[in-house]
Amino acid sequence: MDSLPLVIQEIDALRQFVAATRAQGRSIGLVPTMGALHQGHLSLVRLAKRRADCVLVSIYVNPTQFGPKEDLARYPRDLQGDLLALAPLGVEAVFTPSDRTMYPPNFCTFVAVAGMTTCLCGVSRPTHFRGVTTVVAKLFNLVQPDLAVFGEKDYQQLVVIRRMVRDLDFPVEILAGVTVRESDGLAMSSRNVNLTPLQRRSATALHRALSTVRERYREGERDASRLLGLAREMVEGEPELRIDYLELFDPYELHALPLGEGGGLEGPVHMALAVYAGNTRLIDNMRISGED
Ligand code: PAJ
Repeated sequence: MDSLPLVIQEIDALRQFVAATRAQGRSIGLVPTMGALHQGHLSLVRLAKRRADCVLVSIYVNPTQFGPKEDLARYPRDLQGDLLALAPLGVEAVFTPSDRTMYPPNFCTFVAVAGMTTCLCGVSRPTHFRGVTTVVAKLFNLVQPDLAVFGEKDYQQLVVIRRMVRDLDFPVEILAGVTVRESDGLAMSSRNVNLTPLQRRSATALHRALSTVRERYREGERDASRLLGLAREMVEGEPELRIDYLELFDPYELHALPLGEGGGLEGPVHMALAVYAGNTRLIDNMRISGED
């Protein structure tokens, strides 16, 4: 049987583990997660394993990235299940700190990436990315990994973290893992367990809408409002779903796309959408044109 990863909860113990690994001349790959691990997370771990000698997974449901009305309390947690899932992948350690360890009393220092965090998910989650970049910056400082892996599933998060790393000169290579999907196209997410059977069936519309837009773009459609209208219709056709946003944007800066002379889309295009199924917020995205 594979041995379970070492569970580290305290900062001192984490620093000792990191120092011992470094002393052996081994590189470290970090995979930050909030747990309730699924195949999407595990694919990031496999990628880290291919590129680093030692892989450390953090499992921490980070309160600062949840808004006051969001699902922090009902976010799924399953540490034992997570450890069992990680053991066969050769993960050596899991860092799972308490809230008090990560946010000691009177904590008041935050890392915020401006500009690209007020659009897309930032509109309905105005404090979300500040929480993400703060916790990820702390993890980078604690672990000082050679590389860290993030999923394209959370595309805006990936772009924001890359920008933070560049702007603040973190000596960390950021690797991106492709989105792992269920057989019907739904992007895997820890939140999918909260869906009712009817919501679960409707949720396939996210990926269908993205794929349809990409298809129509490839067939020559360049009218942004027609492309978005098509996607909107497909999602609104599902009784269980309510659209938060649905947008086409520049994949690197996340801003609105310049339109060509005829008013059509030009250059690389990315699409993302966020949809509520009851109280569960689902997101997905896809490159519509240009290199991934
Ligand atoms: P969490 O939602 O647990 O996701 C952890 C990592 O797994 C993220 O990089 C996310 O993009 C990736 N991921 C999630 N679903 C995926 C899928 N279906 N395919 C591939 N990768 C997937 O994202 C967070 O946690 C947090 O914001 C965190 C970065 C840990 C900071 O708290």
